[in-house]
Amino acid sequence: MSNLYILDHPLIQSKLTRLRDKETSNKEFRELCAEISSLICYEASRDLILDDINVSTPLGETKGKVLENKIGIIAILRTGIGMAEGILSLIPNAKLGHIGLYRDPNTLMPVEYFCKLPEHTENCQIFVLDPMLATGGTASAAIQFIKERGINNIKYLCLIAAPNGVKRVQADHPDVDIYTAALDEYLTENGYIFPGLGDVGRRLYGTK
Ligand code: URA
Repeated sequence: MSNLYILDHPLIQSKLTRLRDKETSNKEFRELCAEISSLICYEASRDLILDDINVSTPLGETKGKVLENKIGIIAILRTGIGMAEGILSLIPNAKLGHIGLYRDPNTLMPVEYFCKLPEHTENCQIFVLDPMLATGGTASAAIQFIKERGINNIKYLCLIAAPNGVKRVQADHPDVDIYTAALDEYLTENGYIFPGLGDVGRRLYGTK
């Protein structure tokens, strides 16, 4: 079974409260989304592997560390982009991919309409990003499409998770750990997470 990490760090929780506030502007919402995402990624990257290297300081030689893992981040369109910026500020050399899905109105099955993924190499750690883990349908399908391209070492990062979404991803992808700033109460009839953040696309970009 995959692990669910709910990150209770005071910086994350205080920023999340400002993010929830309906009076927060689009500009501040984008900034907070990026900041919280980089803090979540900080926790999610704790077990990255380090190699030893030698380094020369102005005073002499010492031992240092470099990341052994290559890092790839995959933003689920479109709101995952709001998280990617914060993570790139923390790991500027990470490769950024995008995946976009829509639900076919006849079959109700998720269909991929855009997919550009980071090249997968050995020891590559992939972070899949989507701010709201609601029903888990999109998350699970996106992870499935990504795995079908041979990418396996995946962690799923979101800002808010709903219990249904967590259950769905854990059932479909027991190898994928989930990192979130909050586990909220339930999904409304319209598929919004309560109390949540509202329509994240609208709050990030000012468009419906
Ligand atoms: N997408 C959103 O923008 N908000 C939610 O609460 C759930 C999905």
